[in-house]
Amino acid sequence: MNTSTLANQNQFSKKKYAWSGRFSEPVSELVKNYTASLKFDKRLAHCDIQGSLAHAEMLSTQNIISIEDLRNIEKGLNQIILEINNDTFSWKIDFEDVHLNIENRLIELIGDAGKKLHTARSRNDQIATDMRLWIRDEIDDLTNLLNKLLCVLANLSLEHADVIMPGFTHLQVAQPITFGHHLLAYAEMFKRDIYRFKDCRKHMNYLPLGSAALAGTSFPIDRYRVAKNLGFDGVCQNSIDAISDRDFIIEFCAVASIIMTHLSRFSEELIMWLNPQVNFIDIEDQFCTGSSIMPQKKNPDVPELARGKTGRVYGHLISILTVMKSQPLAYNKDNQEDKEGLFDTVDTIRSTLIVFTKMMQCIKPKSYNMRLAALKNFSTATDFADYLVKKGLPFRDAHEIVSKVVYDCEKRGCGLEDLTKDEMKKYHSKIDDDVRNILTLEGSIFSRNHVGGTSPERVREEAKAILKQHYSVDT
Ligand code: ARG
Repeated sequence: MNTSTLANQNQFSKKKYAWSGRFSEPVSELVKNYTASLKFDKRLAHCDIQGSLAHAEMLSTQNIISIEDLRNIEKGLNQIILEINNDTFSWKIDFEDVHLNIENRLIELIGDAGKKLHTARSRNDQIATDMRLWIRDEIDDLTNLLNKLLCVLANLSLEHADVIMPGFTHLQVAQPITFGHHLLAYAEMFKRDIYRFKDCRKHMNYLPLGSAALAGTSFPIDRYRVAKNLGFDGVCQNSIDAISDRDFIIEFCAVASIIMTHLSRFSEELIMWLNPQVNFIDIEDQFCTGSSIMPQKKNPDVPELARGKTGRVYGHLISILTVMKSQPLAYNKDNQEDKEGLFDTVDTIRSTLIVFTKMMQCIKPKSYNMRLAALKNFSTATDFADYLVKKGLPFRDAHEIVSKVVYDCEKRGCGLEDLTKDEMKKYHSKIDDDVRNILTLEGSIFSRNHVGGTSPERVREEAKAILKQHYSVDT
């Protein structure tokens, strides 16, 4: 390449890229397309501008830029917000990412003042800040959605606190429980998910700006001012860590994965309950789909998809863990891979929570079928054993006696409640007529009236507590 071509190239590249001054030839189209993050990171635009506004405000109060420069920057950035909102902003892949697109447009709009915005800042602390701001908003929104789901579950539990169904272990009928109690088991899981989001938010709510590329900056910045303006609880204490770690994204994806696990388990049960052989619930037609070949089918596509989508959320968690695992300090371009999986995670849990919550509002338990199923498989055998213990027998002996009764009933093809008083007496002299009530489904559930137990009274109490604590205005 002769000197004049080189000079031309340099001129071209200097004009084109914020960083291209030291380059002798423009970046190849192939590399440009491979490395650009614009098509997905433009989603961060509003957070990016929010961070820039706070940074510029601080630069001016610290006399690093003038007040006029600040006013121009504010005017320019506000204009850019409008353009983005109206879809008139012209995104250019040549400018690689959201940060450089906005900065270049700012310079186009306000000239030299725009060139000063990046003082005491790097795209490394900028992106670390944008990501935190973005996730923080999403956590707040998703928490609201979890609250709504909790309220729907609590209302459903209140309404059906007396409905009895079989409780399962090993998917075998184990003991009678109330439908409300079963639903509130999921409510407990979602309550913990809300606390997990709270913790995750707390861990990441520190400001990276001021860390610049990795080592901090020589300008007399005021990081606490920026932190306060952006609603952070403090500032990151180590500039190298601040710009390089993405553990907050890992944590977020882990919480999201746990939420999807809960939704997936719930979905699995709904699918089972909707199976005509089980037939425990009805769900409005609007949440089901038909088959293109079998006219009789009503398929539970929503819970099936919720169960299926769990896979991609787990995948994104593994993906971000893997992105981080071999990176030396400090910033590496690998980190750019933190975004698409995160965005998809948020989109997936948001849409799943919304549709799942709506669907739960349309669930009707079929109490007769549930009751019939609960009457099967000697579901009150434990109550029988407990009865004998209360009459003075050691639990192990009581267990053995009831096993024998169950064995005999099974052979005769009858239930415990079908035995006469005399037949009962043969198993132990302490068995009396009062055992009858103990062996009923109601006897069983009403006796479990302690905190965390299945009795309707406790279910109502817990449901009300959830409504009181988690009710959100827009539920
Ligand atoms: N697009 C980049 C990312 O997502 C922004 C930071 C770029 N920094 C850099 N030194 N190349 O991580």
